[in-house]
Amino acid sequence: MTPYNKPDYWSLKAQKEGYPARSVYKLKEIDKKFGLLRSGHTNFRVLDLGAAPGCWSLYALQRLKTQGFLLAADMSPLASQYGKEYFEGKNFLFTQGDITAEETMKFIASYSPFNLVISDAAPATTGNRSIDAFRSFDLAETALDYGKTVLVKGGNLVVKVFQGGGAPNLLKRIREDFFSAASFKPKACRQESFETYYIGLGKK
Ligand SMILES: C[S@@+](CC[C@H](N)C(=O)[O-])C[C@H]1O[C@@H](n2cnc3c(N)ncnc32)[C@H](O)[C@@H]1O
Repeated sequence: MTPYNKPDYWSLKAQKEGYPARSVYKLKEIDKKFGLLRSGHTNFRVLDLGAAPGCWSLYALQRLKTQGFLLAADMSPLASQYGKEYFEGKNFLFTQGDITAEETMKFIASYSPFNLVISDAAPATTGNRSIDAFRSFDLAETALDYGKTVLVKGGNLVVKVFQGGGAPNLLKRIREDFFSAASFKPKACRQESFETYYIGLGKK
């Protein structure tokens, strides 16, 4: 077994707690540190980009407690056996499509504004670190563009990016559009992974 398909502490915990993958704990840590889903706001609107198999959406819906609204987008479908009571609720919508496509952008924009944009979108990895970082950077830029167009003033952004390539430049750009920005690597990220998360707080 390679380190990527060997179940570890986080994957086993996810299985036990009813989430499709370990990625849920990354958002949990980010939320705990930055308080993103704790607004106490009754109409809190979240956009989840690169949402499949659905852990981040499920966690966010649980935090929203049927208040607010969550729109999730991915090229792949969500894992249908999880979180049915949340995914079949009125405050959730999933759209299957490419988030870089104009058609998807228009569809998402029709549901704006949002208070929080979270993007865990990642390319299928090739094993070539430069190519993977380049593709991840493109997706992260797309997420930042969504943040700029669909977030309310004061809204927050979480975006995954593979380190290398243009990542430092992206953080600089987030700093220009948000009152503050931070880089954070949750403990639940695999040790060998070169992913990290950029957080933009308070859209200008
Ligand atoms: C790491 S997974 C996301 C995991 C998810 N946050 C969760 O917790 O279940 C990355 C996702 O990004 C999606 N993705 C990559 N490129 C995309 C694109 N251009 N448009 C839509 N989704 C994309 C992939 O299909 C994949 O499901």
